[in-house]
Amino acid sequence: MKDFAGQLAFITGGASGAGLGQAKVLGRAGTHICIADVRTDAIEAALAELHSEGIEAHGIVLDIMDRAAYAKAADEVEAVFGMAPTILSNTAGVNSFGPIEKTTYDDFDWIMGVNLNGVVNGMVTFVPRMIASGRPGHIVTVSSIGGFMGSAVAGPYSAAKAATINLMESYRQGLAPHGIGVSVCTPANIRSNIAEASKLRPSRYASSGYVENAESIASLQSIHQHGMDPEQLAEAIKKGIEDDTLYIIPYPETRDMLAAHFDVIVQSVAPMDYDPEGARLRTEALKNWVADRSRVFGKGKDR
Ligand SMILES: NC(=O)c1ccc[n+]([C@@H]2O[C@H](COP(=O)([O-])OP(=O)(O)OC[C@H]3O[C@@H](n4cnc5c(N)ncnc54)[C@H](O)[C@@H]3O)[C@@H](O)[C@H]2O)c1
Repeated sequence: MKDFAGQLAFITGGASGAGLGQAKVLGRAGTHICIADVRTDAIEAALAELHSEGIEAHGIVLDIMDRAAYAKAADEVEAVFGMAPTILSNTAGVNSFGPIEKTTYDDFDWIMGVNLNGVVNGMVTFVPRMIASGRPGHIVTVSSIGGFMGSAVAGPYSAAKAATINLMESYRQGLAPHGIGVSVCTPANIRSNIAEASKLRPSRYASSGYVENAESIASLQSIHQHGMDPEQLAEAIKKGIEDDTLYIIPYPETRDMLAAHFDVIVQSVAPMDYDPEGARLRTEALKNWVADRSRVFGKGKDR
């Protein structure tokens, strides 16, 4: 996507941080903006900021974990703007940190519910609508650098973010024939309000194995105050959409860490002389299965 004028972006988590940054940057480029967020007051404040810049923006109160509400939000944005979104940005997310061995079902259900199921709900809601519109489009999901590796203190968050990276790889392959690009942005640190995410935790997920209080929030704030400016990140996301890049990682300090992590994985693969004949047979079987699938399901859009 090269021309942002006249596009329509649906941005979850659009009332704050990385989501609001995208709303501003894409809005300044002429894209109509719909921000969806679980916080009504934050939506109002964000809309006031966007409108003061002359950006055409609409707000929808939405909990991305709620599938029925998500479908209603999709109907609303189409009714307001008279078109389906051409840009979907799955940005809403929460974090919560604590020892993996103390993690409760409620910790998993809330953290993975927002960060993974919320993205799934966005894709299942909007992908068919974007395809049906017949317009070229782009989907970007804001994951995390933490999605590339596990962490003893961020288990559910890292697992959810890993899954969204992987999902975007799948959707990228599947949506290319429909003219819809897919990217995943994996930030390291953003100057945002995410340190206060625990305040958004629904009471139905109250039973946590983690300690979350004013001190833990202040400790997180001390990191995020040095994070990347959300508008700078949004410029990188916009460039990623323009260039249709799969991974958007504008954080040079993460290169060595990622290289070391993936090198361990690559070095764990057995050398070819370990089982050459087995490798040949398995590769052949896979190739035949792919060909057979194409025969049964057809190639391209309906494969
Ligand atoms: N802040 C960082 O350092 C950092 C690093 C890596 C990845 N990320 C990711 O960036 C994304 C944006 O976060 P941010 O840092 O801008 O934080 P933020 O808290 O400033 O913004 C997140 C927004 O998501 C909204 N939200 C939370 N739960 C929601 C729900 N269930 N439904 C709808 N909206 C909901 C919040 O109200 C908030 O406005 C998140 O996915 C986060 O995981 C952040």
